[in-house]
Amino acid sequence: MTTATSPVTLEKIVALCKRRGFVYQTADIYGGLNGVYDTGPLGTLMKQNIRAAWTNSLKIPGQEMLFIEGSLISPQAVWEASGHISGFQDPMVDCLSCKHRYRADDIDLTKACSFCGNLSWTPIRQFNLMFKTQVGAAEDASSVAYLRPETAQSIFINFKNIMASNRVKIPFGVAQIGKAFRNEITPKQFLFRMREFEQMEMEWFCPESSAMEYFELWSAKRKKFYAAIGIKEEHIRIRPHEADELSHYSSATSDIEYLFPFGWKELEGVAYRGNYDLSKHMEFSGKDLSVYDEQEKTSFIPHVVECSVGTDRLFLTLLFEAYHEDIVGGETRILLKLHPTIAPFKAAFMPLSKQQLEPMEKICLAMKDKGLTVQFDATGSIGKRYRRQDEIGTPLCFTYDFDSESTGTVTVRNRDTTAQERISIDTIEEYIRNTLRA
Ligand code: GAP
Repeated sequence: MTTATSPVTLEKIVALCKRRGFVYQTADIYGGLNGVYDTGPLGTLMKQNIRAAWTNSLKIPGQEMLFIEGSLISPQAVWEASGHISGFQDPMVDCLSCKHRYRADDIDLTKACSFCGNLSWTPIRQFNLMFKTQVGAAEDASSVAYLRPETAQSIFINFKNIMASNRVKIPFGVAQIGKAFRNEITPKQFLFRMREFEQMEMEWFCPESSAMEYFELWSAKRKKFYAAIGIKEEHIRIRPHEADELSHYSSATSDIEYLFPFGWKELEGVAYRGNYDLSKHMEFSGKDLSVYDEQEKTSFIPHVVECSVGTDRLFLTLLFEAYHEDIVGGETRILLKLHPTIAPFKAAFMPLSKQQLEPMEKICLAMKDKGLTVQFDATGSIGKRYRRQDEIGTPLCFTYDFDSESTGTVTVRNRDTTAQERISIDTIEEYIRNTLRA
């Protein structure tokens, strides 16, 4: 086996996603919808694993983390208070010649349009990224609503409900996984910049005095998370925002960046949002969102540290990180070196011939009953089956062969090394669980 034939590209990832059923273009048969994608069966399994790993990574011993699911649609008042109606916009220009539209900060306006080659731009205008709609039959100001451009606001507007219905004390966290929508001017790079996507966000409520300490703690924890799910240390960096980059709500933000084939780009944002959001919702709703401090005998508005990552962007990141090509038996092999906890299937079970179909399927079903996500794979030559499993990132392939019945053993093959060993059928579950723990 030799390694690294050619580097990973976006095109290779897009092709693999479609070929193997990770991701499909939405409404593919009708020509698609730009910036919107559906997740296929393998992608769905992998996303479930990403969500579980993220949820698991939020634990702080002795401190509370609550989870909510907010609505995707919310009234105008929420977005007026949050500042999104006035401030959530990107600069936009059109080519006067071919009418192609660009994000003004994505291109060099002293150069010609890359579509038609002419140099004539409209003035820069601000374009609000929120999807606006109307709730109910009446078309008046009170029916205006928006699809949420971030999940975070669902947490802030529920802060009072959460405090009142749960026995929690500051500091504590509220986390949420859910869809967000942005009418991006130029969606691009597949799942990197989409119009409908999923976010995994956590808001940590704390007193102002400890906010910067938590900001540091969460930044470090997030970096550790990426190492734990198999991203190489040299592919991740933390970049603090310059003052002129900070969002309208943030007084300190660091981007956790990944080295994509198209350069260092934001994967996750860790932001110290001050008490901007709760203060604004207090002001606009007229409801008291402060918390009483028993010791100090005063009320205060908690400060917030936020960790926010797009599930789809992380999914894409993990595919880039995992994609490898090597030469096995004179042929190019594509393999996804996904961390076993992230891989869609933990193992595949392969009978060598028809006679071994039944006993192998029985073992496979027993593993499913134990809660392991595994696949029975009986079609095609054994070589083809290995290639298929390598390409979808399955860490282990078990083969039941002519000696299995008499010896009570199977062969297990390692995805990354292709090395094989014989193990007892009784130890298969333990073998898989050990791989998941590694
Ligand atoms: N609540 C803070 C917030 O939404 P953001 O930097 O705009 O901050 C957070 O978004 C994360 O959401 C990003 O780091 C990225 O992972 C993901 N994200 C943002 N816009 C996205 C898009 N158009 N497509 C895919 N993921 C996106």
